[in-house]
Amino acid sequence: MRILTWLQATDYQIHIWNYFWAVKPMLELAEKFPDAEIFFFLAIMHSFNSVQDPIALRRNAINILKLYAACGADLSRFLIYNPAEIPGHAQLNWILTCITHMGFMERMHSYKEALDKWRAKEINVGVFCYPILMAADILLYDADIVPVGKDQKQHVEYARDIAMKFNNAFGETFKIPEPYIKPEVWLIMGIDGRKMSKSYNNYIWLLDDEKTILKRVKQIPTNTQTVEEPKNPDECNVYNICKLFLTPEEDEILRKRYQAWGLSYKEAKDQLYEKIIAFVRPIQEKYAKISDQEIIDLVEQNTKKVNELANKKIKEVYKKVGFSL
Ligand code: TRP
Repeated sequence: MRILTWLQATDYQIHIWNYFWAVKPMLELAEKFPDAEIFFFLAIMHSFNSVQDPIALRRNAINILKLYAACGADLSRFLIYNPAEIPGHAQLNWILTCITHMGFMERMHSYKEALDKWRAKEINVGVFCYPILMAADILLYDADIVPVGKDQKQHVEYARDIAMKFNNAFGETFKIPEPYIKPEVWLIMGIDGRKMSKSYNNYIWLLDDEKTILKRVKQIPTNTQTVEEPKNPDECNVYNICKLFLTPEEDEILRKRYQAWGLSYKEAKDQLYEKIIAFVRPIQEKYAKISDQEIIDLVEQNTKKVNELANKKIKEVYKKVGFSL
């Protein structure tokens, strides 16, 4: 069985929400499907529709991969590759582009979201056609399962539709992929109580130093209840972040302490600070030991292997559509 997953290169760092949303589920997936081949690609060429800064693109991809490794991902368990170095993605992309109608792309949520921000004539065609490239990423390797958030489900559905359309027109060629919907983790709030996000400046990076983390934790707003008053943990953002790092037993104890009297917000924040530090410290230590070159070498090796698979598929497709003489 083949699972296809990816890493975004739009950012240089990973914050706590990214960890729980992207990194941890990937580690769990590897455990859940011990026999699966996991295709794990760097979405460098994909990010080019929004990040057009060559230094940032490269640096982001390398750094995020280092962070995944520092978070405990056994990189040898995944086939990590760079689609930009595999011509098959662009080759298949063209074929799928020609069998896709504009109307289909106009219905994509990602395009509609872009339309909320800009006028159509200001949106680059890469944004408009992005789901086609995604479908190429998926179909090129006959992926069985594609784990996505709800926001990307429609893209996998399009990949299914276009695969069926191709198969009907040119004969059985592509496997029909299944989306695997990841549970939502919207509960992870930033320090201001809104969803943790870089654009709100309310995040804690995994690589933040102790001073910064302390400052961030202190910034979390709390209400005015005194030590003596019982508190509702679910209404407290200090608790909401803290519980991510607690065992069920620790969680139970902390909830009880909120509901009884005697817990000050200062104490709750101290505990949160300690928990975050205990979580990020080993990640930071491991991160410091990984070199960029190690990462680059690994990706290069895998990319060669994956390119061979892609080439084989492209040969088959080219024959079917009549491109090879
Ligand atoms: N669209 C995904 C994102 O923005 C990344 C992505 C590119 C992808 N190609 C894909 C996801 C293929 C699943 C399958 O996060």
